[in-house]
Order: sequence, then C-alpha cells, then structure tokens
Amino acid sequence: HPSAFIFDLDGVITDTAEFHYLAWKQLADGLGVTIDREFNEQLKGISRMDSLEKIVALDPALGGLSADEKERLATEKNEHYIKLIAEVTPAHILPGMESLLKDIQAHGIKIALGSASKNAKMVLEQLELTDYFDYIVDAAQVSKGKPDPETFTTAADYFGFAYADCIGVEDAEAGVEALKRAGMFAVGVGLSLSEADYIVADTGTLHFDSVITHYNERSDS
Ligand code: G6P
Ligand code: MG
Repeated sequence: HPSAFIFDLDGVITDTAEFHYLAWKQLADGLGVTIDREFNEQLKGISRMDSLEKIVALDPALGGLSADEKERLATEKNEHYIKLIAEVTPAHILPGMESLLKDIQAHGIKIALGSASKNAKMVLEQLELTDYFDYIVDAAQVSKGKPDPETFTTAADYFGFAYADCIGVEDAEAGVEALKRAGMFAVGVGLSLSEADYIVADTGTLHFDSVITHYNERSDS
C-alpha cells in the first residue's frame, strides 16, 4: 500500500472549480475580456495572482496595470468567489469522495490536502471533511505553486514519506505536472489529463481498490 494520499481540493473533493470559473468570468466581463471554459482549464490549480496574470495577458490594453491595480482585481475576484462559496455544504462533496476518504482511513493510510487555494481550510470546514485530513497544505505554506511540486512534497515531507510512496489526486493539468515532477503516482480526474498515471472520468468512478491496483502495477514498482 502507499503511505499517503494527497488530494487537490477544488474540482476533486468538491466542485468549487466551477465557482472559481464563475468568479473569474465575472471579473473578466468587468474588464471587457471574454473567457470561456476551455481557457479556464489553464486557470485550474494555479494561484490567484497567476490566474489574473493569464487573464490580463489576453488583452494588450491591460498591459499597463500596476501591481496595486492587480492586487485590487485579485481581491475583487476573491470577493465574488467568497459570495459563491458561502452556500457550500456537505451536499457539495463530489460523488464517492467521502467513501473514498473513509476507505483510505480504514486502511491506515495518511490523508493530506494539497491545494493552491487560500480558501481551502474554510471550504473543507463547510464540507465538514476537515477531520479526515492528517495534514493540510494550502497557499499559505508554499512559495512556488503548481506546476511546481512544492505543494505535494511539503505534505510528504511533513510525514517523512518517500515521494514515490504517495498518490496524488488532481483535476488540473498544472496539478498533474506537479505530481509527476514530485515523482508521485498521479491520479487524474478528467479524461483530458493524459499525463496522469491513472485517469478516471469523474469522482463517481474513482474507487479505492482500482487506484491501489493501478498504483501497484506502476512501471517502476
Ligand atoms: C485552486 C483552484 C484555482 C484557484 C486557486 C487559488 O488551485 O484550482 O482555480 O485560482 O486554488 O485559490 P484562491 O481561493 O486562493 O483564490
Ligand atoms: Mg483542482
């Protein structure tokens, strides 16, 4: 068995990825920039300011924004987002995720969160899932966000586990890249995540036994 599972939050444990998208869209509309769901794939998993930089880069007219103006815009996006997630309850846990957490725990395997979000702890509380997590890595703990591996290696280092003995679960390209660079086994939620070691269409088809089977069959084991 692996030593730990490290979960991304937004889009894996709960569908807050959609709320991030809606909040960015609201901000972009105000700036006269159009973003769509395809573009949004690039925003998944990366920090708030990195996301803003990608949106600003879409329009040359926004090239002259000062650092203060960018801070203000990032704060405005977060205000939209906070309003959207105020309604989050345990009913917003994605299908199968709580039973997966229970199965992992029952096998004595550690569970960590590896999220780029400054709102991660609040969202976990609202979902009433905090108690499943032995350790939480959020945006406050890392200096380099995904696709840098630091989010995931910080969790493994906390436990003192080898990276190859950890399984990460991600819905974002940047997150899968971070896991691979860390040398961890990457589970991708979403069929487009071709770089992942094991891919499922959605969390409803993410089962403990099949993850473990694929982990044990990995090429370097
Ligand atoms: C997660 C999401 C991103 C989001 C980032 C920062 O990684 O996938 O879409 O931009 O967290 O979230 P925050 O709540 O700190 O703005
Ligand atoms: Mg995500």
